[in-house]
Amino acid sequence: MTGYHEEQPTVLVVDFGAQYAQLIARRVREAKVFSEIVGHDISVEEIERRNPAALILSGGPASVYADGAPKMDPAIFDMGIPILGFCYGMQLMALELGGAIPKTDIGEYGFAELTIIEPESALFEGVPEASQCWMSHRDSVGTAPDGFTVTARTEITGVAAMEDAGRKLYATQFHPEVAHTEHGQRMIRAFLHNIVGIPPLWTMVNIIDSTVDRIREQVGDDHVICGLSGGVDSSVVAALLHRAIGDQLTCVYVDHGMMRLNETEEVLRVFRDQFNIDLIHVDAEDRYLDLLAGVTDPERKRTIIGEEFWKVFFDEATKLKGVKWLAQGTLYPDVVESGGKNNAKIKSHHNLIPFPPGVHFDLIEPLRTLFKDEVRAVGAELGLPDEIVHRQPFPGPGLAVRIIGDITREKLDMLREADAIVREEIFNWDTDREVWQYFAVLPDIRSVGVMGDERTYAHPIIVRAVASADAMTADWARLPHELLAKMSNRIINEVDGINRVAYDITSKPPGTIEWE
Ligand code: XMP
Repeated sequence: MTGYHEEQPTVLVVDFGAQYAQLIARRVREAKVFSEIVGHDISVEEIERRNPAALILSGGPASVYADGAPKMDPAIFDMGIPILGFCYGMQLMALELGGAIPKTDIGEYGFAELTIIEPESALFEGVPEASQCWMSHRDSVGTAPDGFTVTARTEITGVAAMEDAGRKLYATQFHPEVAHTEHGQRMIRAFLHNIVGIPPLWTMVNIIDSTVDRIREQVGDDHVICGLSGGVDSSVVAALLHRAIGDQLTCVYVDHGMMRLNETEEVLRVFRDQFNIDLIHVDAEDRYLDLLAGVTDPERKRTIIGEEFWKVFFDEATKLKGVKWLAQGTLYPDVVESGGKNNAKIKSHHNLIPFPPGVHFDLIEPLRTLFKDEVRAVGAELGLPDEIVHRQPFPGPGLAVRIIGDITREKLDMLREADAIVREEIFNWDTDREVWQYFAVLPDIRSVGVMGDERTYAHPIIVRAVASADAMTADWARLPHELLAKMSNRIINEVDGINRVAYDITSKPPGTIEWE
């Protein structure tokens, strides 16, 4: 994959495993320079073909001496391309160029005080003599290779940074890409802008312009179809394609009836009224309710909803004449597989779309070089509203996964109303947007209560609100009691059929964020 930015100076991040490469790639982009991740087995020829402005070698979990430790063709060091190596990347640079890495068992993990011993180093321009850095290594360089100068140290690590400025080879034992390294981003910027000389021109406007050019080139006069879900990715794809090819784009919004309150109306308002996009709204709620009647198994619900989505979508797509392309919101992390033996190999998503027999569209994936936060920034720049750009994660099968047991129209209506109250109250309270995700769940139980003089036998609503960075782990949000009390009162007073509200105080693990 070459991406959509061939005309831009590109930095290749060479991945030696673990999670570091994606973080480095993002930091480079934050410095307004385009970056892509490549596997450590990349050949000299491939690097020549891609013609990068610089390479950054990532850290990795292996020891350079371990059997099967990831290596890179040493000839790459002789190509005259500026290289910056971090941690494992530094050790590899030292080893290949004649330095020494003594086998000691003295590692260094966590915060360390970094002392600059060569203040003239261009990498450390503006960095104070003493600052904090983040270390995570066992091995380290004992002797820098010939031609290199040692430029920084910590108490434990004598060679915390080294450079051969003449050959533009730089390396740090610490991790400038992590936020714990106080001046890390300054060092990355110094390398990119001052040492390599790449101007900081990779901006959102620039990304949009080059993506739009690329779409036009790829699509020509052909017609494109795009499935719109109301989520960030498909919305940004639609808005970008519309900017590029106008009415050669048709969007299909399959409304399965499991959306949150007013969400469908919002999608129609934004894409039809604001963007003037040719949008087919398929109201498939009845069809879905029939198919889901009596189904209680969560996996079965997901399968039914997924299969029906594609059936409805392809029914519509094949009714249109002359459509050649199907647009998809594949993102960069879906494309690059980090770590392991096949790191940075391109994953194929193409076989995930269940084309019915005799039906085929070529795929166009305008977001496949972008990270999620970049996609949001592009969306905002294109004029998509905040509710879409900063939308919380929402399962494809929608409220179906938040109704435990069978799904009926009445239950959907109850949940929608209660969920709207939860969202409104927490949204108004959480002005700093610190809560990752919050919603209501309708379990498959009823209990006795009393309202006025009457005994009730009705459903509870479970409120779920979690703090998280990436949904892999999560903690239940410590919402103030007053807020919980207000939500509880409102839900019971305003939503028929609910007589109790519970707050979920389970973290993930052992729980999950969703209830299914
Ligand atoms: P769990 O429940 O596994 O959820 O802790 C982790 C995150 O994934 C979201 N989620 C989904 N997102 N399609 C999506 O796009 C889905 O089918 C889906 N199921 C769960 C969930 O909301 C949480 O943020």
